[in-house]
Amino acid sequence: MRLPALSLLLHLAGIISLCAAQNITKLQQTLAAHGVSAVYKTSGNFKTLSQAFNRRFSVVPVGIAFPTSVAQVSAAVAAGSAQKLEVVARSGGHSYIANGLGGTNGALVIDLSKMKAISVRAANGTAVIETGNRLGDVTLALNAAGRALPHGTCPYVRSLGYGGFGFAGRMWGLTLDTIKSATVVLANGTVATASAKVNTDLFWAIRGASPSFGIVTSIEVQTFPAPPSVTVFSYSWDSLDITTASAAIANLQTFATSNIPASLGAELVFGTGPSSGRLSVEWNGGYYGAESSFAAIVKPYLQTLPKPSRSSVKPGTYLASVTTFAQGQPVNTSTAADIPDTFYTKSILTPESAPMSAAAIKAFVTYMAKQGFSSDTSWFVEVELVGGRNSIINTVPLDATAFAKRDTLFLIQFYASSANNKPPYPSDGFAFVDGMVASIVNNEPAGWPYGAYLNYIDDKLTNGAYGSRSTLQCCSFPSLILWIHAVLHAVCSNLEYEIERKHQLLLLIGSRGSAKTFLKK
Ligand SMILES: *[C@@H]1O[C@H](CO)[C@@H](O)[C@H](O)[C@H]1NC(C)=O
Ligand SMILES: *[C@@H]1O[C@H](CO)[C@@H](O)[C@H](O)[C@H]1NC(C)=O
Ligand SMILES: *[C@@H]1O[C@H](CO)[C@@H](O)[C@H](O)[C@H]1NC(C)=O
Ligand SMILES: *[C@@H]1O[C@H](CO)[C@@H](O)[C@H](O)[C@H]1NC(C)=O
Repeated sequence: MRLPALSLLLHLAGIISLCAAQNITKLQQTLAAHGVSAVYKTSGNFKTLSQAFNRRFSVVPVGIAFPTSVAQVSAAVAAGSAQKLEVVARSGGHSYIANGLGGTNGALVIDLSKMKAISVRAANGTAVIETGNRLGDVTLALNAAGRALPHGTCPYVRSLGYGGFGFAGRMWGLTLDTIKSATVVLANGTVATASAKVNTDLFWAIRGASPSFGIVTSIEVQTFPAPPSVTVFSYSWDSLDITTASAAIANLQTFATSNIPASLGAELVFGTGPSSGRLSVEWNGGYYGAESSFAAIVKPYLQTLPKPSRSSVKPGTYLASVTTFAQGQPVNTSTAADIPDTFYTKSILTPESAPMSAAAIKAFVTYMAKQGFSSDTSWFVEVELVGGRNSIINTVPLDATAFAKRDTLFLIQFYASSANNKPPYPSDGFAFVDGMVASIVNNEPAGWPYGAYLNYIDDKLTNGAYGSRSTLQCCSFPSLILWIHAVLHAVCSNLEYEIERKHQLLLLIGSRGSAKTFLKK
């Protein structure tokens, strides 16, 4: 949920080359004829504009277009499609694997940063948000109208939609759950509206898998009244041994199944301790209920742990909570540049029906405390509370959206950067992170129904890991095949494979800022 304060393994995976007959001159002329500004390899600022957020990747697109309207997005998609290029949307550009640049060389990038309109409708509390907006700017615009939306904590991640877990999520849902309708540019350039009333199959699909289906240019969301007070809390232990740090996880699982309110959002954060076999641990989050009830709610969990090294419990405004969660990055993203990183990350969604076993927790904590101490990476692990009693995320019917994991207790993010956040990423850093995940999974029974989170997209993961539910559901919508056909040119027998593969790219507009549309003609 958080990007750390922040390496160049050249990832020149040039796989593409859909067709030899690409006429870039023609592309440039067509874009210019539609008034779409764009940069190409020969442009002076091309290098800067084509840098990936994760500097582990270096991806060279054919060009980057900066449309200012839905009509220009449509024209740009059609122009790229006519040249048989992969066309990809970049929203915030935070895809962990550079999908906003196409993931591999040779794509046409549709950068949405010039599409930043936001309107809030007082009558029904909906807001229409163009997908060039970053989360911080969305927060400010909604807050000015007394409204708020559930989303992650990084202010620079752009404009929402397709995942969107944050501390208010147990109370308000995922960002994708708030979407009422969306404007989508399809692979053939057609502009479609998707909602519960029109193009319902597309509406189902984009809430969880939008990049497979088109470029979402705006979403209409249901906002919530900004809570009058949010209690931001953090409890830190500088040096916990393996037994005690294991108890912090096990007891959080137990606590989560007690009658905790939906208004409590929390995560455990692990980092290097002062010596091998010890860890630094922090429990932090936001409580969106009355300040006076906070202490009693968290007491049953805190009393299972030693006295913290330090703690902070601060009630304040909703905007103050968003500012604190941003960890030093400005909420107004016009005031400072984004900060890149060089990293490798993985994730696990633990099932509520089969929480982590004591053996898995101990192996995992032991691994972090020992291998973590000797690792040359700068790493952290977040154990985020998604489910548990009263969380509304898991009450949304599994068939309602393409998001496949409505049975999650914890979302665990394993994140390791190069020591100075610059390239190169150390080669042993991959095995280090893989080992964290293995320490858990290898200590669970075969067939443990865990998953992975698409926002924390991982280029080493095989397709099925994100959950196959969407594939199954997708096939029960016969008309959806038409959409897919239009976008992916997949044949029905290929559908399952195609959707699974594209599905990895899901949530990217919302949370990691890129949508990817494959145009195979
Ligand atoms: C590419 O397009 C330009 C402009 O339309 C045209 O002049 C040129 O002949 C084309 N090149 C090829 C190889 O078709
Ligand atoms: C909310 O109200 C606006 C008009 O103010 C209307 O255009 C829109 O369709 C409404 N949205 C929903 C989901 O009812
Ligand atoms: C964000 O900062 C910019 C540049 O300082 C300023 O022009 C703009 O008004 C600010 N936006 C908000 C919502 O405060
Ligand atoms: C574009 O694709 C959609 C979805 O298949 C289809 O409904 C629409 O008619 C197509 N538009 C054109 C101009 O071919």
